[in-house]
Amino acid sequence: MMFRMHEGIPEVILALDVESKERARGMLKACGDRLRWVKVGLQTYLRDGPDFVREISDSGKSVFLDLKLHDIPNTMAKAIESLASLPIGMLTLHASAGPDALHGCARIARKAMPDTTLLAVTVLTSMDQHALAAIGIASPVEEQVNRLATLAVESGVGGIVCSPLELPRLRTILSSETKLVTPGIRPAGSAVGDQKRIMTPSQAKDAGADYLVIGRPILADDNPQSALELIMEELGPSPS
Ligand code: C5P
Repeated sequence: MMFRMHEGIPEVILALDVESKERARGMLKACGDRLRWVKVGLQTYLRDGPDFVREISDSGKSVFLDLKLHDIPNTMAKAIESLASLPIGMLTLHASAGPDALHGCARIARKAMPDTTLLAVTVLTSMDQHALAAIGIASPVEEQVNRLATLAVESGVGGIVCSPLELPRLRTILSSETKLVTPGIRPAGSAVGDQKRIMTPSQAKDAGADYLVIGRPILADDNPQSALELIMEELGPSPS
């Protein structure tokens, strides 16, 4: 099957991985209005709860809730129902939960949260070939990522979280309607930290990313707003 070429400027999502709600509020203020998306992960959600998600949304940002749901199909579907009253633009679940769970979640999400894009996580980038073998998966990592990404999309999930190096490959096997969301982004000159397989913002754009999840290069900068704007300038003019 041939898919049309992916086009467009990726949106930047700030990974709000900070140690307190006060610091999170300060960081959002410091980033200014050009920041449109915020990723709330387990650290922040379990500490600050749904009210903080509403607060971020009320301040004009879209929320990517990164809870990586993984359970039996009924429990995952009920979890999605529980989240349905929250203003969430994107929500993650594990593709390895399997086809029944993915189909069920996609069906419930279409009904209960029609404005939310479900994103599947395939193989965590912390897992290498040895770690996969230890849990009984003999396939090469790339093959397992392709398999889970294809399964998720065929089950009705709208996007995939992937490493930048997986972007070109996933773009060739998935429709251009499928959103690709990638962490592991480092602007030229910024500290790499614990990220290993990285790309710059413009490399990830050229490789087909729709959204770039960026934390420390913005969070650790003395001027988060200018760090964000530099990244946005590198990406080019915003579509809207
Ligand atoms: O600070 P940094 O830019 O590395 O943050 C990246 C964000 O993306 C963090 O919230 C991290 O948990 C998340 N992430 C990642 N690599 C993955 C999946 C998620 O860095 N494979």
